[in-house]
Amino acid sequence: MRILVATEKPFAAVAVNGIKEIAKEAGHEVVLLEKYADKAQLLEAVADVDALIVRSDKVTAEVIGAAKNLKIVVRAGAGYDNLDLQTCTGRGIVAMNTPGQNSNAVAELAIAMMIFMSRNQFAPGTGSELSGKKIGIQAYGNVGKLVARKAAALGMQVMAYDPFVDSAVMENDGVIPAATLEQMYSECNFISLHIPATPETIGSIGYDLISRMPAGGCLLNTARKEIINEAELVKVLTDRPDLKYVTDIAAACQAELDEKFGKRVFATPKKMGAETMEANVNAGLAAARQICRFFATGCRDFQVNK
Ligand code: 3PG
Repeated sequence: MRILVATEKPFAAVAVNGIKEIAKEAGHEVVLLEKYADKAQLLEAVADVDALIVRSDKVTAEVIGAAKNLKIVVRAGAGYDNLDLQTCTGRGIVAMNTPGQNSNAVAELAIAMMIFMSRNQFAPGTGSELSGKKIGIQAYGNVGKLVARKAAALGMQVMAYDPFVDSAVMENDGVIPAATLEQMYSECNFISLHIPATPETIGSIGYDLISRMPAGGCLLNTARKEIINEAELVKVLTDRPDLKYVTDIAAACQAELDEKFGKRVFATPKKMGAETMEANVNAGLAAARQICRFFATGCRDFQVNK
């Protein structure tokens, strides 16, 4: 079988080598398309492959249509909002993700962002410490749990909100379960977002929630830009000159945010949450193993289009 690794944002070389080794051992061939500049290259590359490994690369109906032999696509990462699942299902293509494999890298970035914003983006001047502050974690999944542990180790009070997780699980981890999202935003100096982009969550973080944050509050986004209502974010940052926003996924209106709010906002130049060698290796190799298992045994663990 031919496995295409199509990554506009390439994996570290060590991860690519690992993927190749795993595929070779199982009798498969790996084709690489890295740093591609336009869609046409992807459409051409998928034409004769049986499996596809991507990161945030968009696997649209057009891409799937061009991939006549495609049987499986694995998003090497957690969020699979870049895959057209309906079209995959219609074609009988199995779609998977690799949950948890890059979570630690994202959690470490969330902590780094808090320190960066609390220390005036490392510009001279008096900053503040994380110890003794309260963080609210929105969604207690793989990343949220790791952020909770790291924040607690820094002396922070940790609260979390997740309607899909039993509060006993949080309590067992020493995390305060929030009864409502509103409560969490009202009480926490930092809010760290870890929800996926779904029809329910898109545009769901807006004025009503953010404006509840205490004085000097900072909203951290290492999830997806789509979950923010950007017009309302601009409004709340205007009305509340004490609030801050830091994101790993530049807003569509990032230029406006930068211009209006200066050092109260920060966006990484290119999404870097999962950009560690370890995360690349974990997610890339997991994707390769899942594909080999699927071809060898039909195993569908981590399928997301059931
Ligand atoms: C994920 O959903 O796994 C993260 O957002 C990482 O995305 P990336 O592979 O594009 O860095």
